[in-house]
Amino acid sequence: MPIPFNELRSGYLAQQPEIDDAVRRVLESGWYILGREVAAFEEEFAAWCGAAGCVGVNSGTDALYLALRACGIGPGDEVITVAHTAVATVAAIRMTGATPVLVDIDPARYTMAPAALAAAITPATRAVIPVHLYGHPADMDAILEIAREQFVIEDCAQAHGARYNGRPVGSFGDLACYSFYPTKNLGALGDGGAVTGNNPALLDRVRLLREYGWTPQERYISQVEGVNSRLDEMQAAILRVRLRALEAGNDARRKLAAIYADMLPAEVQKPVEAPGCRHVYHLYVIQTARRDHLRARLAEQGIGSGIHYPVPVHLQPAYADGSLRKHDLRVTEQAAREVLSLPMYPALSEEQIDAVAAAVNAALA
Ligand SMILES: Cc1ncc(COP(=O)(O)O)c(C=O)c1O
Repeated sequence: MPIPFNELRSGYLAQQPEIDDAVRRVLESGWYILGREVAAFEEEFAAWCGAAGCVGVNSGTDALYLALRACGIGPGDEVITVAHTAVATVAAIRMTGATPVLVDIDPARYTMAPAALAAAITPATRAVIPVHLYGHPADMDAILEIAREQFVIEDCAQAHGARYNGRPVGSFGDLACYSFYPTKNLGALGDGGAVTGNNPALLDRVRLLREYGWTPQERYISQVEGVNSRLDEMQAAILRVRLRALEAGNDARRKLAAIYADMLPAEVQKPVEAPGCRHVYHLYVIQTARRDHLRARLAEQGIGSGIHYPVPVHLQPAYADGSLRKHDLRVTEQAAREVLSLPMYPALSEEQIDAVAAAVNAALA
């Protein structure tokens, strides 16, 4: 039997009665955008994250854009992040008019290398965006120690439920940004995102910006130049149901990851869980110089895989115009040549993980 790289329908089927009820409730309510479901989800997700507040928005990209805007970031400012991330992290910085400055990653964790961050800070650096990539927390103590004068905005799009020194990711910086794209550990059945945080003034600012700069007291009057990045009631109602399954889903991912770790050959670099960190395996990423050979052999057997990410942001055609600033990115470029994401989602059985691991062993023997 083929093993797909990902399979989204199983997540819906596992909670079908509750999701169908939630959808029907919204359909029958006659209220479809920014209503009771969004408010309830914001409250429940903030509580789940251990944050004081949450603002639901249209996508993870918008969450990052609005968080940066709320911090006053714009043209002339520099924002430091990594090149080894979804292009969205950098696209959001560009949307504000600020200049993205890209630094290298740690070769084991695949997250921002603190020494590279320290070397990239200039008087124009206004914010730093660490990305908790693949579900593993970035090295937050070191990053916060270096970025004392800057806003720190955590990109948690791949790390719902990950923990660092016992605390949830997202609780370290000034604001945290989430995506609810359907593949995420907490995925909607459409687009969605959120900004969480503990600073009410910054969260109010995000709320203002997400709907044209209107205040709750005065619709149709734009106090600041905002955008439309509203979360709809249907996605919020679905997310409320899915939130209840998030912890069990993360536990299932961790169990499957432990099987991979036992069975995969020593030749491949496996994901690490750094001391004090809880990895939630949004993706299970291995690294090998024989990546392309391995991927082809797996495909021959009907086993899907992915590459996150094949072309680092600084080498993307869209950014060939010099709009980015970059530092030494050798670790990033090697990762782009060698990383491979194996199937990883809660509906996978242990037998399927065994089969993938056996196929990896055979391909590299
Ligand atoms: C690390 C990271 N940041 C940001 C985003 C953007 O999220 P969205 O696709 O919801 O805009 C994603 C997901 O695509 C992501 O993986």
